[in-house]
Amino acid sequence: MRDVMVIGAGMTKFGELWGKSIRNIFVEAAEGAIRDAGVDHIDSLYVGAMSSGLFVCQEHLGAVMADYLGVTPVPATHVESACSSGGASFRQAFLEVASGASDIVLAGGVEKMTDGADVTEALATAADQEYEVYQGVTFPGLYAMIARAHMEEFKTTREQLAAVAVKNHENGTKNPNAQFRRRVTAEQVMQSTMVADPLRLLDCSPVSDGAAAVILASRDVARALGRDRIRVKASAQASDTIALHSRKSLTTLGAVVKAAEKAYSLAGLKPSAIDFVEVHDCFTIAEIVVSEDLGFFEKGRGGEAAEQGLTAIGSDHIPINTSGGLKSKGHPVGATGIAQIIEVYEQLTGRAGERQVAKARFGMAQNMGGSGASCVIHILEAL
Ligand code: COA
Repeated sequence: MRDVMVIGAGMTKFGELWGKSIRNIFVEAAEGAIRDAGVDHIDSLYVGAMSSGLFVCQEHLGAVMADYLGVTPVPATHVESACSSGGASFRQAFLEVASGASDIVLAGGVEKMTDGADVTEALATAADQEYEVYQGVTFPGLYAMIARAHMEEFKTTREQLAAVAVKNHENGTKNPNAQFRRRVTAEQVMQSTMVADPLRLLDCSPVSDGAAAVILASRDVARALGRDRIRVKASAQASDTIALHSRKSLTTLGAVVKAAEKAYSLAGLKPSAIDFVEVHDCFTIAEIVVSEDLGFFEKGRGGEAAEQGLTAIGSDHIPINTSGGLKSKGHPVGATGIAQIIEVYEQLTGRAGERQVAKARFGMAQNMGGSGASCVIHILEAL
């Protein structure tokens, strides 16, 4: 496989973008990435989106976006993997360049969730319809069960869950593209409206619109453009049972563990070599569980680590979600995986402004779908 480099990035602000359509926001992000990379063409494009048919009644997104971006007849493919659609889109683009089939590929992600669809019902299509959703379970409900099990098994506290939201909202104040750029206190989190016990409103990622795109290129092309600084060191993916009740444990996400093992092995790295990570904190408990399953903390100690500040910007342990994470930056589901890659790219190129992590060489992005039934992990390296 050939070396693959990330050479440019573009994204919209995340939030309620009522004045713009799904094609407008995707084109805005894609044009930004093309401009940033300094390329005059792309060989193909991928669009990660979870459920544009249900959210805005528009499918066939590959063709729609190629058309409105003005790049027809390049191959254009819609990639769906629930909330990890963006990560899966990036992985497909990576594989296409690594294989030698193409030299310059755009990987994008988009979702328009605030245009009036029943968002909770649409999101629930990523869970097991027959055994979970028909019984009334929603995603906050599924993650609430994981939270309860973690609290029971490891004595994780309500305060520790809140610490994740407080830290991510703090990081979000430093991100101009974040949906919520406001601080919250632990008391505010713990007194916010109950959604699914023990998860409250401020434990949840929000409903968001947004788009993000990056350009991947072969090393030769990147070098010719003078943009051969950021290499994709590892790309890994894994799956797990769709329903929570089929798992041996509710407190370990098997797909995260498997994808991480593969990513570390491909990169020849241990967790301690990773300088910072963007994780899929769709709910505060998810960040805690994932921080353990990626090997940054012993099983059961993720909550304590968050409370002790070991995951904050400036920590020499492992800064997590410097972008503000899904919690504060927003979670337009199909765009999230690409936005995570963009944060890693911005950090590694020294463009992260007030949230810059010092002397970072290896950054990781972990994106997952449903209650962890699919997981995509990438490690990027600054050369
Ligand atoms: N974090 C912080 N603030 C939030 C928020 C969130 N997640 N969600 C909404 N808000 C704010 C809104 O900005 C609004 O503030 P305002 O009154 O100052 O304008 C207020 O809270 C009420 O917003 P509203 O849109 O009425 O909230 P809601 O009750 O309809 O939705 C949730 C709140 C938590 C239910 C919704 O965001 C949700 O379903 N989140 C989970 C999404 C999800 O499951 N994603 C997939 C994960 S796998």
